[in-house]
Amino acid sequence: LRTLPFLQDLDAGYLESTIPLFQKRRVKKGSIIFFEGDEGDEFYIIESGLVKIYSFDGAKTVILAFIREGNYFGEMALIKPGLLRSATAETLEATDLYVLRRRDFEQLLVKNNKMALQMLWFTMERLRNANEQIQDLTFLNARERILKILLRLSKEHGTLLANGEMQINLKLTHQQIADLVGAVRETASKILQELQEEGFITVDQKKIILKDPANFEKKVTDV
Ligand code: CMP
Repeated sequence: LRTLPFLQDLDAGYLESTIPLFQKRRVKKGSIIFFEGDEGDEFYIIESGLVKIYSFDGAKTVILAFIREGNYFGEMALIKPGLLRSATAETLEATDLYVLRRRDFEQLLVKNNKMALQMLWFTMERLRNANEQIQDLTFLNARERILKILLRLSKEHGTLLANGEMQINLKLTHQQIADLVGAVRETASKILQELQEEGFITVDQKKIILKDPANFEKKVTDV
């Protein structure tokens, strides 16, 4: 817990005293942690693993984020009584969580201005991303949106390989790429194929690799 960015500013003694409030929970791959619309009573920090945050209206899925170790989710429904889960959370890998009850979460925020500020900062970052996605949906075509999402995923989930290429550390299906950018799968497949043929990306065991990350970024900022 001490290594988490938004807990780092807590004074060590206080952090020590809060540790017993966190319950550890192991969740299998492919489990729903909660559904959109559920009442929320818990806040989650990921110790290890990967969680997909998405919204499903019965026909279409919109993927809002992939959240991995060191990050948190489930804070939005806890910030005010009566709020429901704004999206569904599902594990994509076996995941170890630290779980905090609503009451303890509130206490922690109330007693720690620094932590509250840190969380505000992270949440603003998510809002910034979400705003950008709204703009992109309005102004960009599917190819441009895919270029942008690949760049964003490479920043959030990228591993720089020895040969200078950047691997996105998520096993993504074409359907998931489509659900990230508001396109249909056929369109996403076609565009990914084009990007491969044009030499921008390769795919290794479902993980997308940006072949020349600097050039890729330049291409996206030119969009
Ligand atoms: P909550 O509404 O309790 O449950 C769903 C969670 O998904 C939400 O809290 C946030 O933690 C997370 N979430 C919702 N929207 C986004 C987003 N756009 N980006 C990242 N995380 C999100």
